[in-house]
Amino acid sequence: MSVSPIEALLSRRSAKLVGAPGPSPEHLDIILRAAMTAPDHGRAQPWRFVLIEGPAIAEFAEFVLKAHEDAGQPLLPQKVTNMRGWLAQAPLLLGMACHLDPEDKRFPEQERILAAGAAATQMLNAAHMLGYGAFWSTGLGTYLPAVQQELGFAEPEYRFLGFMSIGTPLRAMPSPARPEPETFVRRWPAAS
Ligand SMILES: Cc1cc2nc3c(=O)[nH]c(=O)nc-3n(C[C@H](O)[C@H](O)[C@H](O)COP(=O)(O)O)c2cc1C
Repeated sequence: MSVSPIEALLSRRSAKLVGAPGPSPEHLDIILRAAMTAPDHGRAQPWRFVLIEGPAIAEFAEFVLKAHEDAGQPLLPQKVTNMRGWLAQAPLLLGMACHLDPEDKRFPEQERILAAGAAATQMLNAAHMLGYGAFWSTGLGTYLPAVQQELGFAEPEYRFLGFMSIGTPLRAMPSPARPEPETFVRRWPAAS
């Protein structure tokens, strides 16, 4: 039974625990092209990505753990185990950043960050529609300057937005119940 694009969109859910296979080169290209469709004021194109693949992921995990220790913020043993377990299987990790381009004063910084966040969301949607599991995380030392620097996304030129893992879900992932939109919406003027 075919699923309509709207059904696919409305069934999106995150899947953290993923394994091989990761996206094929063709599918990765589609996922990145989805990012390019994000709304973007002034064609700033502020989204930036770094791909970490295969064995480099475990190597990067060890770098992050050391960065936490060097920063005096060691992770609890259970978190270390969880992180290593997650990343031992994930076939693809993307570091995601916003190019703040502080010299460009055309519009507030927030608009670049929103566009880069929208690009990440488009990638979550595309990965889901292609049948992959994807997960946005601001763990893995996202807020540690050493990690941002290692990935080439140091402030003040960039704002690092975290990581997205993408692969094949390791277990069936039903879509969670979502809230009723009306809870979050009101009308102006308010009905009298
Ligand atoms: C910017 C951002 C950062 C996030 N960081 C984390 C994180 O570090 N750890 C975590 O468990 N979930 C994190 N999440 C939430 C998950 O990616 C996911 O959205 C959540 O588990 C809900 O699942 P759903 O997307 O299927 O609704 C983050 C989400 C966003 C938008």
